Amino acid sequence: MRAKIVAGNWKMNKNLAETGVLLSELKTKLKEAPDAKIIVAPTFTNLYYAFEELKEFDIEVAAQNMHQSENGAFTGEISADMLKSTGVDTVILGHSERRAYFGETDALLEEKVNTALRHDMTVIFCFGEELEDRKAGNHFDLVESQLKNALFKLDADSWKNIILAYEPVWAIGTGETASPEQAQEMHAFIRKTIANAFNAEIAEEVSILYGGSVKPANAKEIFAKPDVDGGLIGGAALDPQSFAAIANSF
Ligand code: 13P
Repeated sequence: MRAKIVAGNWKMNKNLAETGVLLSELKTKLKEAPDAKIIVAPTFTNLYYAFEELKEFDIEVAAQNMHQSENGAFTGEISADMLKSTGVDTVILGHSERRAYFGETDALLEEKVNTALRHDMTVIFCFGEELEDRKAGNHFDLVESQLKNALFKLDADSWKNIILAYEPVWAIGTGETASPEQAQEMHAFIRKTIANAFNAEIAEEVSILYGGSVKPANAKEIFAKPDVDGGLIGGAALDPQSFAAIANSF
């Protein structure tokens, strides 16, 4: 049975003190034995602190990005080995904000994914179409090409370390959510695409999260869809009450 997952992408929010407050509130508000795996992704500067704080809890810590090289003269960058040395072995790659504001291409993301997997990390791989793609009816083709370009050269065994996060760009931070039917339709398409490129077992086992304006009010309905295995939460992950309500909606 594939894992149910609720992950909070904190983006560039929360300093060290604020991270402490949010984590302690989450510890009290989340269910003792949650039905979904819970992941939080604070900024780089707070990862080690978050990892230490959450060691005894059923909450995993992920990074929001990572460089593709092992090490070297890449001022300001963070390597897979650095992340792993803090205890963090999950990384979000391919977020639409990285693609849009930092020029991350499918080819670069393929390299990043390969590096993370070489270090035995788990990758939360994000992808999704822009509003123009959806309006033009290109959203399935676009999503298929994003998956193909970054992930389809993987060997079958690597898929156990991949979590997919479909995040339609038009729904991120806009308050406009894909309807549960739109999410289900795309997630079923993604699963079928993976089954065709690899096999039915990999497609059945991979968790596919939905991201884009998930809130306590809509989480239950979205997560109830058969091919939606959880969510990647932005804004609502910064409020412990909201994130806990979303995480507890399974
Ligand atoms: P929002 O939940 O704020 O729309 O952000 C979604 C997201 O980008 C998670 O990675």
